[in-house]
Amino acid sequence: MAAAWRGSLRARLMVGVVLLAAGGMVAVNAVSLIGLRLNLIDVADATLAKARTTVQHRMNDQAAPVNSAGLNSLIPDGVYVALVDDHGKVVAQTPARDLNGQPRARPDLPSPVPDSFADPPRTLSAKSAPVPRYRALSFPVGPSATVRPAPGTPPQRFSTVVVAKSLQPGEDVVYWLIGADAAATLAALGGIVLLSRGVLRVGLRPLRDMAATAKAVADGDIDQRIEVARRHSEVGEVATALNRAFDERQRSEEQLRQFVANASHELRTPLTTIRGWAQLHLHGLAQDPELIERAMLRIEGEAARMHATVEELLLLARLDQGRPLAGAPVNLGTLVKEAVGDARVRDPGKPVTVEPAGEVFACGDEDRLRQVLQNLLSNALRYTPPGTPISVGTRALPGDTVELTVRDQGPGMPPETAERIFERFYRGEESRDPAAGGTGLGLSIVKSIAEAHGGTVTVRTAPGKGSTFTVTLPAPR
Ligand SMILES: Nc1ncnc2c1ncn2[C@@H]1O[C@H](COP(=O)(O)OP(=O)(O)O)[C@@H](O)[C@H]1O
Ligand SMILES: [Mg+2]
Repeated sequence: MAAAWRGSLRARLMVGVVLLAAGGMVAVNAVSLIGLRLNLIDVADATLAKARTTVQHRMNDQAAPVNSAGLNSLIPDGVYVALVDDHGKVVAQTPARDLNGQPRARPDLPSPVPDSFADPPRTLSAKSAPVPRYRALSFPVGPSATVRPAPGTPPQRFSTVVVAKSLQPGEDVVYWLIGADAAATLAALGGIVLLSRGVLRVGLRPLRDMAATAKAVADGDIDQRIEVARRHSEVGEVATALNRAFDERQRSEEQLRQFVANASHELRTPLTTIRGWAQLHLHGLAQDPELIERAMLRIEGEAARMHATVEELLLLARLDQGRPLAGAPVNLGTLVKEAVGDARVRDPGKPVTVEPAGEVFACGDEDRLRQVLQNLLSNALRYTPPGTPISVGTRALPGDTVELTVRDQGPGMPPETAERIFERFYRGEESRDPAAGGTGLGLSIVKSIAEAHGGTVTVRTAPGKGSTFTVTLPAPR
């Protein structure tokens, strides 16, 4: 269960959504916090620049030593000041206080303080900890600047002033915001997890239903179909395609069942006849040599019929496999001449003509095409009364196609029969009689062969109007 969940589409989509959302939120928060800090530093730098102007202004005005107790009076509230001599030594400094006047740690100044130590301004840490931090600016003052570090002590010269402003109030806000943002981000991600679980559960339900239906169909419940709610959604398209595959499978299974039933039936009739005659002989009932002769003839005849049926079934099975046929130029004119010659011998009472005659080449398998002609001609001989004229013709059509026609002026067929004659094992009413000899496979073989060549077969017929079978085939390139 756990492993299935880990690999599932739902889990992967959810992890993706959560990661994307978390990444997006962290990026937005980071950008706004960094922006806020940069802005804090800009504000501090502006305050320090103002302090520098004030200090420089006062120093220029004042020739007397600066009173260290009055250092704070030089600059705006909350700004730390250190006075540094030529050797980088701090000679006087203010205590550091926050905006409420509470004392706090002073910024860490290096000892000695180098020249231009904080020009441009820089960020310093304080003694106690990384927080509070300071923004510092140093600048030189004129050569006459002196300070009296304590009342009554001699004045000392200084050359550099360092002013610094605590970043703490702003940084407090930043740190508070980081905490608040983190909490809000986590809460939002929790919400997204819950929501996306729900949305994905509902959104992926059709896929689960599909899997269940497909499993049921595979397990043999072949009538089941997937319900398609929205045909044009991606899931709907998959469902429609699957339903079509199920339909197709059901259809071909039924076809196969029908085919096997028909084939068995077709073979059972001659087998019954053969067994009947054999048993007659075994029970000693066929003593008469004339009767024995008849039994043998019947057995031979039925075996031959079975043989023909099996051969036809094998041929159909081979054509069904869809293996490509030989594709050589075949002279249909020659095939027609041979087939017509055979037909005249078989049934001398029927005038068989070639119309139109001539050399027409098709691209295909000679043996199979001979079989097409034979099946069509033997039907024309079999299903027409004596003396019926039959004509066979070949023609090249425009556009790389050739046409073979077998026409008879026999009784023709009603439309309901004509519609079904290309079905396997279908036989017309008048030809059901086993003595007629057909199996109902002849025209389906013609159709399979024509289609295996990339061609077609059609019939034009009406009762009393004769029948015309037309096969189209590709011409050699
Ligand atoms: N030329 C034709 N004239 C009338 N009916 C025909 C003709 N050719 C075929 N048929 C009908 O089509 C059916 C199917 O033909 P076919 O597939 O060759 O099977 P079979 O000849 O074994 O019966 C025949 O049983 C017959 O009823
Ligand atoms: Mg036939």
